[in-house]
Amino acid sequence: MSFEGADGSGKSTQAELLHAALAAEGRDVVLTREPGGTELGEAVRTLVLNGPTMGVWAEATLFAASRAEHVEEVIRPALDRGADVVCDRYVDSSLAYQGIARGLGIDAVLQLNLAVTGGLLPDVTFLLLIDPGVATGRHVDPDRLEREGTALQAKVDAAYRELAGRFGERIVSVDAARPPDEIAREVRERLRDRS
Ligand code: TYD
Repeated sequence: MSFEGADGSGKSTQAELLHAALAAEGRDVVLTREPGGTELGEAVRTLVLNGPTMGVWAEATLFAASRAEHVEEVIRPALDRGADVVCDRYVDSSLAYQGIARGLGIDAVLQLNLAVTGGLLPDVTFLLLIDPGVATGRHVDPDRLEREGTALQAKVDAAYRELAGRFGERIVSVDAARPPDEIAREVRERLRDRS
């Protein structure tokens, strides 16, 4: 299963809480995150987030390279031994950020990612939705970067909502503007409903 959402949606907290809840029930569960989760992933994270400017395809393929390694080294081995995997960001991050917000197209980015992961998609994806204006609306006089940030966040939010419409079987949308424990309870219940 994976958690998705814009930056600041609280998805990392929810991934941790679900991991803890499943572990407390005695399940073998692995918590991991993207970009990251492997040495290559961490290197890609540094390169993409702090490195030289690059084109969108370079960005998409670097995230895909990190994902390929992540699946091979961490996720597949865990699934093969029967563990549950909770992943903080996965394919939908690439679909939302590179595919929709940055314009490469959902289908092209999905194809790339299906190829590099051997077609591995989550059984269920929890999408944490929060009004992008809530986090950034407090800046009375936003500077250029803040405005750009807000515009990108709004695009990413719209992108995720589009994905939720397209992959309605897999993606479960959750209202993230609530206390973390309340959200965690809903996530656990929704997961139970599906199994
Ligand atoms: P990170 O610091 O992990 O942010 P967060 O805590 O919000 O997860 O940085 C990840 C950034 O990389 C985030 O802005 C989303 C972006 N990203 C993509 O654009 N495509 C991807 O495939 C992935 C995994 C992340």
